[in-house]
Amino acid sequence: MLAVGDVVGEGGQDILSRRLPGLREETGAHFAVVNGENASGVGITPAQARRILEAGADVITLGNHTWNRIQIGVFLDREPRILRPANYAGRVPGRGMGIYPCRGLRLAVVNLMGRVELNPNLDSPFKAANFLLRGQDYDLALVDFHAEATSEKGAMAWHLDGRAAAVWGTHTHVPTADCQVLPNGTGFVTDLGMTGPSRSVLGIKPANSLNLFLGGLPRRYEEAEGPCKLNACLFTIDTEKKRCLSVTRADIQE
Ligand SMILES: [Fe+2]
Ligand SMILES: [Fe+2]
Repeated sequence: MLAVGDVVGEGGQDILSRRLPGLREETGAHFAVVNGENASGVGITPAQARRILEAGADVITLGNHTWNRIQIGVFLDREPRILRPANYAGRVPGRGMGIYPCRGLRLAVVNLMGRVELNPNLDSPFKAANFLLRGQDYDLALVDFHAEATSEKGAMAWHLDGRAAAVWGTHTHVPTADCQVLPNGTGFVTDLGMTGPSRSVLGIKPANSLNLFLGGLPRRYEEAEGPCKLNACLFTIDTEKKRCLSVTRADIQE
């Protein structure tokens, strides 16, 4: 299966639409999960979600920008192929886990969000994972852990080792080089990276970011221009043994 990092803006949606079908074919991936929380820069509209699904995503996951485009709420309730983090503490629209058919298997996809330096008001993602993965009505579990801290992401992977076939981090927009399979068969990478403009600070215009660090007044972030990249990882899973066999980066740079 392929896991694709946060899709940023028009550029990110464009490269995803053009390259995901070929990447799926090239890698032989039977399933693709795409993080879409930055399709609008911050947030995602129903139209953008449809575009990502049409590009070849089986499931869209989200993160801390879920509610920046509030109109997504109704869509989250209606479209089972888009998930928001499962561990929101309050009553919010949508769902954080779905079970999807794939080649005779039932794949559980879970979207969780971290608390460290991100959102301390969330329920524990570790306890939420325990609760959600307790059921036996799926064959394999795939987890997008949207979090800032590398330690929290690593801890989650070990927490789920042997219970999830794949755990990957999203949110930082910077790909990590630590693809590995843990002892009990969970494939893990700390962060997928992002899908969007390469010459940027996390997808936005460098001047926008620099303005903030130099003490300027907050301004609306604008998507950077220029060439785009697609950051993704390929998890190869033995469906009988329910173990990940390998995790490799599957990035595209244009
Ligand atoms: Fe995020
Ligand atoms: Fe993001």
